[in-house]
Amino acid sequence: MSIIKLVVMLLLLVAISATTEDTNFIFNGFYSANLTIDGVSSLSSDGLLRLTDGTKQQKGHAFYSKPIAFAKNSSFSTSFVFAIRSEYPNLSGHGIAFVISPTKTLPGALPSQFLGLFNETNNGHPTNHVLAVELDTIQNSEFEDINDNHVGININGLNSAKSAPAGYFVDGFQFQNLSLISGLPMQVWMDYDGGKNQISVTLAPTNVKKPETPLLTLSHHDFSRILRRPSYVGFSSSTGSISTSHYVLGWSFMLNGKAENLVITELPKLPHLGDVKNEQSMILLVGIPLFCLCLIFLLSLAVVHFMKRKKKFSEIVEDWEQDYGPHRFKYKDLYIATKGFREEELLGRGGFGRVYKGIMPISKIEVAVKRVSHESRQGMREFVAEIVSIGRLRHRNLVPLLGYCRRKRELLLVYDFMPNGSLDKYLYNQPRVTLNWIQRFRIIKGVASGLCYLHEEWEKVVVHRDIKASNILLDFELNGRLGDFGLARLCDHGCDPQTTHVVGTLGYLAPEQTRIRKATTGADVFAFGAFTLEVVCGRRPIEQGGGSDGIVLVDWVYGFFRRGEIVEAKDQNLPMGREYREDEVELALKLGLLCSSADPSRRPNMRQVVQFLNGDVPLPDLSLLNSSSSGLTFGHRQEAHHDSAMSFPSSMDGSFSQSSSIAESLLSGGR
Ligand SMILES: *[C@@H]1O[C@H](CO)[C@@H](O)[C@H](O)[C@H]1NC(C)=O
Ligand SMILES: *[C@@H]1O[C@H](CO)[C@@H](O)[C@H](O)[C@H]1NC(C)=O
Ligand SMILES: *[C@@H]1O[C@H](CO)[C@@H](O)[C@H](O)[C@H]1NC(C)=O
Ligand SMILES: *[C@@H]1O[C@H](CO)[C@@H](O)[C@H](O)[C@H]1NC(C)=O
Ligand SMILES: *[C@@H]1O[C@H](CO)[C@@H](O)[C@H](O)[C@H]1NC(C)=O
Repeated sequence: MSIIKLVVMLLLLVAISATTEDTNFIFNGFYSANLTIDGVSSLSSDGLLRLTDGTKQQKGHAFYSKPIAFAKNSSFSTSFVFAIRSEYPNLSGHGIAFVISPTKTLPGALPSQFLGLFNETNNGHPTNHVLAVELDTIQNSEFEDINDNHVGININGLNSAKSAPAGYFVDGFQFQNLSLISGLPMQVWMDYDGGKNQISVTLAPTNVKKPETPLLTLSHHDFSRILRRPSYVGFSSSTGSISTSHYVLGWSFMLNGKAENLVITELPKLPHLGDVKNEQSMILLVGIPLFCLCLIFLLSLAVVHFMKRKKKFSEIVEDWEQDYGPHRFKYKDLYIATKGFREEELLGRGGFGRVYKGIMPISKIEVAVKRVSHESRQGMREFVAEIVSIGRLRHRNLVPLLGYCRRKRELLLVYDFMPNGSLDKYLYNQPRVTLNWIQRFRIIKGVASGLCYLHEEWEKVVVHRDIKASNILLDFELNGRLGDFGLARLCDHGCDPQTTHVVGTLGYLAPEQTRIRKATTGADVFAFGAFTLEVVCGRRPIEQGGGSDGIVLVDWVYGFFRRGEIVEAKDQNLPMGREYREDEVELALKLGLLCSSADPSRRPNMRQVVQFLNGDVPLPDLSLLNSSSSGLTFGHRQEAHHDSAMSFPSSMDGSFSQSSSIAESLLSGGR
């Protein structure tokens, strides 16, 4: 029995020591306070305890988390700073109460005039064990409130045991009114003396020291009957039909002693009075227009960005192009493929435009994109039709044209990428690689075969008009492939007016072209002849020599031919390995001369050229070949075409320009 008593005593001691440990706290702002909050209460990051948040008909509680072990004869003292901020300057609702309660939640309590403390059934009931100090801003006759701005001491109910209008005594006598709803922070002190059974409550603005005379004193009341042990200390607050915010800025409490003084300067700052008076309407008044402005700004940014992008990637697509769907490329894709047409991706500059290397975004196919500027829309429809039909040309010695894209002032042609570049880089100007005879002869034969296909084997006759080494591209096996076919035709229609009409290149132009001004297959054969000599001799058709006159390659080769040593005209850098075939060199040089005949009727056609090259048919006798002012002619003293003695302007660097456009179609229908 005595052992049990001892154990109980010990447990009690432990409990008391545990609970009396934390009976003293001070919060100069609730930065790290251990509070239990409910309802609409919240703790802001800047240390304010906001019991209500401007919403209507709501309640909020905040209690110190640990219970306080009130003993029969204990005393305590507490002080706190509060502020009430209302929608209107002369109206508010409802108030704040400092509470000592057996629970932290006050279950079943109502907002509005019940201050979040009681409800209709339990109001005034002795089993509540609630002691409160109310700061009431509404006069409720049902609870016998003295006015709408009073401080009261409440025991178990809302009918105050004692109350007084809000204010304080200056120098012990002079009463100074205070308005609880002024929005200004005010301090409350509550002192409970267990020995004297007396409670006193004092109120003052924060800039005033604790007045000597309390506002309220309630004595000769057995508070120990009211206070349950343990009890919780905290605050309760409620709103009615007027939007109000109730704040507590700091709080100090001590059991059996005098609470520490709050440090007013360390308390958190209340929101600016102007803002708080109507926080919600402020949000509506300032927030929403600001938000709208931001939204409009962002939206216009997005629109500008979109427009820019749209302009950047704009294309011209017309109804008639619908049929060419698969051949049409998106400019955006080409832009991405060529990394925005970067200089680093530039493969070369041709007579018609710049060529860029690209990798198509999805298929990862390597392409060469040619940008051709065109000013006029005139003839564009026909040209695109031709491009598309040319896109259907399939021959292993043609560079495949994959499709096109059309923009304002610009046409983009998409070709297969040829990894080894153009042939001219292998012939002169310190070539990276010197081609051997097998390679050269295969290139000549390949170009002849491709040209034969264009002239004779496809459904339409296609005249290339610009055969030259720089238009022959080498694939990965070093096969020669004809590129740029049909482009001269485009420039008839709409090149930049300044660049005039480029329809061929100096040295490759057949003499009759200035007379008849018509693109013929014969003119292509002439250019092929010049090209063949170029490949075998490794020289340009017209070499700008030391003197004022350039060396014309045809004449130069003809000189060797006259002396009966035509093979000596071959490229001096040509490797003389086992693959070297003198008969083929001779054949190629003679064929070159034959094709360079000034008289178109004496030139072979491309089918015959292919047959000569394959050795199927022997070359005709060239012994009657003569050199005259008009070029190479057959027979003795054939009539010379004086008008065909072309004078090339020396300023032209390789390109020949004609003042009038060649209007006739390159693609003459049928054969
Ligand atoms: C707050 O108080 C509760 C109840 O006493 C306790 O469980 C919790 O650990 C305390 N938290 C802090 C951070 O002190
Ligand atoms: C309360 O009473 C007990 C004895 O009943 C005494 O020991 C204690 O000091 C008293 N406390 C105060 C604060 O008077
Ligand atoms: C509150 O003040 C406004 C003017 O500021 C006045 O119109 C209104 O009647 C006042 N209301 C009360 C209840 O005093
Ligand atoms: C009033 O509160 C008490 C507990 O505090 C609860 O038991 C009771 O149900 C509540 N009454 C009403 C009407 O809500
Ligand atoms: C204080 O307010 C009361 C009414 O609430 C008024 O009668 C009294 O004159 C006021 N006193 C001062 C000093 O303003």
